[in-house]
Order: sequence, then structure tokens, then C-alpha cells
Amino acid sequence: MAKNIGILTAGGDSPGLNAAIRAIGKSAIREHGWNVIGFRDGFRGLMQNRFVRLDSEVLSGILTLGGTILGTGREKIHKMDVGGQRMDVRDVMLEVFNDHQLDALVCLGGGGTQANALRLTERGMPVVTLPKTIDNDVWGTDRTLGFDTALNIATEAVDRLHSTAHSHHRIIVVEIMGHNAGWLTLGAGLSGGADVILIPEIPYSIELVAESIRNRRSSGSTFSIVAVAEGAIDHALAADLAVLKERASGSEAEQRSALKGEIKQIFSSRPTTVKIARQLEEMTGLESRVTILGHIQRGGTPSPVDRILATTLGTACTEVIDRDEFGVMIAARGDDYVTVPLRDVAGKRSIVPEDHRWITAARSLGVCMGDRL
Ligand code: F6P
Repeated sequence: MAKNIGILTAGGDSPGLNAAIRAIGKSAIREHGWNVIGFRDGFRGLMQNRFVRLDSEVLSGILTLGGTILGTGREKIHKMDVGGQRMDVRDVMLEVFNDHQLDALVCLGGGGTQANALRLTERGMPVVTLPKTIDNDVWGTDRTLGFDTALNIATEAVDRLHSTAHSHHRIIVVEIMGHNAGWLTLGAGLSGGADVILIPEIPYSIELVAESIRNRRSSGSTFSIVAVAEGAIDHALAADLAVLKERASGSEAEQRSALKGEIKQIFSSRPTTVKIARQLEEMTGLESRVTILGHIQRGGTPSPVDRILATTLGTACTEVIDRDEFGVMIAARGDDYVTVPLRDVAGKRSIVPEDHRWITAARSLGVCMGDRL
């Protein structure tokens, strides 16, 4: 029997979303003869029943487009802001789902989206998800959609910064996205040949970073490229956060939520990239500049690797729906895919393990990771 499926994209946009929408939609229509609709602006569009029919015409020509043709939003569905009030809108979403006589909802998103999808699954909605975020921090998948494109953009930036840093004998500190995970900074730092790479997983000491730059100068290199993840933290802050996290893990709900607030506050007081650059200038005597890559990393056309990943996971998605497997994320595993239960994915984050090969490789080349020389 022909199925009806709905698709939405949620969380920060990332290159490859349209390629995935196209793959899901085209394989649903071509292979199975299903009907496909897309909800606009993430979970809010589902709640408000704002949708567009995804027919062959709409799905044509979007493979190479950046962003998402459906729009996106960052919302928690069990406490969505509705007219200034926080509301649990899952029942409304179920009504919309049933009104359209949908057989499945496909949610494309990062960690927050996986958690929302689980919340809908728990209410009985048949949901499948795809992992996307430039941060590559979704648990249970080898890669997330958008990571490779962002890695290419950030690497090109690090490459370009080299020549100008070299010409002016400067330190250039480049801030790279990634939320609380260091994948993008580590990847771009490694592929772009950064001299210092600071990631959230390895708390840094600014003195050690300065010393590594002074050592470079003594050995004849008068410039340095410092790749800093937006979530990088120094030793002192990391120690404070560890104490609070320990306390939060053993406390009751109310106190835990207060401690979480404190953790957020302390985290947001971490030294900015501008401050790091100023400190390094003072400590080394070398002129410093800052480049913040920001949302440029999320924009534009997806790389071939992301297009292939989107197409593989998107077509796999209709296979999974066809066999009525729900409550799962379609994860990349090598060139193929596996399904991972949403209850295993939600609430977890994939961060860079301290013994990851990318880290040991960087250290072998003398790259300073901020924690030792
Ligand atoms: O999750 C993707 C991401 O780009 C993170 O790297 C970054 O911390 C965040 O989104 C920025 O969010 P926004 O687009 O809401 O400013």
C-alpha cells in the first residue's frame, strides 16, 4: 500500500540537507510510489501544520543547494515557546500527523533533533532520523551530514591564513565552530597544518601555548597559526566545571538544574578568541590577529562526500520505512548504513577521544594541543 511520509529539518542548517531531502523524496516516489510532504521550519512547522508537497518538480535541482529548502528551527518540543508560554506540543503534533494520515515522519538533525524524535516515538509516532550537523558530534554514526563540507571550508581558511601570517610574521588565531566537540577544529587544523590546535576535549594552558610559539620562533619560524574551537576551555575553567559536573551528577533534580545553570554561566565566561590572541601577543611579543569563521562554515553547496552521504542515507531511509522499522537513526557505517535505536542516541554526544589517531598524529608532528609541549 502506498505510504505517506513527512520530512522536517531541525537544528542549525548544514550543507547536504537538500541532497538528503531529494534522496528520500525521489526514492520514495520512484521506488515505492509514496506521497511525500515537508514541514516548514522544523518542529514548529509540524505543530502549526505548515507544509509543502514534495513532488518530483520541487525535488528537482536541489542536490547542490546549501541550507534547507524546508527551513529549520531550534525548538524543544516538550517545552516549546507558544505565545510566550512553554508548552508540551507533542499531542498537537500527533494530531497533525494523523490528519495527514502519515505513515512515517523523517527528522533530519543533530543531537537536539534526535532527542525530540525520541520524545515523539515515546508518544507512539513512527519516526526515523538522519544525523546532520557540521559539528560531527551525533553519537552512533561515523559521520554527520555537513561535516565534510565545513571541514573543506575551514581547511581552505587555514590554508589562506598561512600565507598572510607568514608574510607579516604574525600569530593568527582562527576560531572554528563545533559547539562542544573538537572534530572540525582538529580536522581543519590537521589538514591545514596549524601549529597549535585547541579543542574542548583537551583543556589548554595559555602559558604552554605561548611557550610553543616562542620555541617555534627560536627555531626560525616567525609566524604561527592557532586553530581554536569555539568551545575550547583552559585548565582552570575545566577544573571548576569538573567539580560542578560531579556535584550535578549526584544531586536531585532541582539542585541539578541550578548547577546546570551555573555550569552554563561558567562555560560562557571562558576566554574569548580575541582574548587568547591578546594574551599570546603579550606573552610572545609577536603581533597577533583573529579570524572568526562563523556561519561561513555552514553555508553554500555541499562537498561531493556530503552529497554521496546524503544520497546513501536518504535512500536507505526509504528502505527502513518500507520495512516498518521506526524509532531509529539511520547512521553512516563505512560506505553503508546501520540503524541505531533513538533511545541509545538521544542525550549523548560524540566527542574526540583523547587517544584518537588524529590527536596522536598531530602530536607526532609537534603540533601543540595546549596541554603539553
Ligand atoms: O550545531 C552547529 C553549529 O554551527 C555549532 O557549531 C555552533 O555552535 C552553533 O551551531 C551556532 O548556532 P546558531 O546558528 O544558532 O548561531
